[in-house]
Amino acid sequence: MLTSRAVLLLTFLVITVGTVVTGSGPHAGDIKAPRTGFDPRTIAILHADMVIALIFLTIGLLIALRLGESGDTQSKITRTAVIFLGVVLAQGLIGYVQYFTGLPELIVAAHLVGATLVWLAACNLAIQGRIFAR
Ligand code: HEM
Repeated sequence: MLTSRAVLLLTFLVITVGTVVTGSGPHAGDIKAPRTGFDPRTIAILHADMVIALIFLTIGLLIALRLGESGDTQSKITRTAVIFLGVVLAQGLIGYVQYFTGLPELIVAAHLVGATLVWLAACNLAIQGRIFAR
């Protein structure tokens, strides 16, 4: 299914831009380590906007699934998409909390764990989407 692959691609881009956010801010190594030179606030806003686009894309996928034929595979991919959406929303919340609280280390660590879970959930969804397309 094309949309589940689009979700995977957009997730990849969100994670890539996330590393650029870190590379532009205080957690990119010691004080003398060179930063990207981008404005951390601007790049963080871009990162968050991409997450909002990802949320809307996933909602679009869920609507398409709901309008399609019902069946076993369809309900499995719907469940996987709902799980993905839940993980992205939780990770998005952690992202905003760390952004507005000045990047405390514990929350930054939780955001890293969340990024791993988001990627796993996106891969799971893309695999289910492939099975669905067969
Ligand atoms: C699907 C949701 C999200 C994913 C998968 C994600 C992923 C990531 C990743 C992989 C990094 C880089 C971590 C590193 O290199 O150490 C990062 C950094 C960051 N993200 Fe996100 N993020 C998400 C949502 C958000 C949101 C909604 C915000 C809100 C502004 C946000 C704010 C940040 C900030 C401020 C950093 C830099 C943290 C630091 O400098 O230590 N993220 N994110």
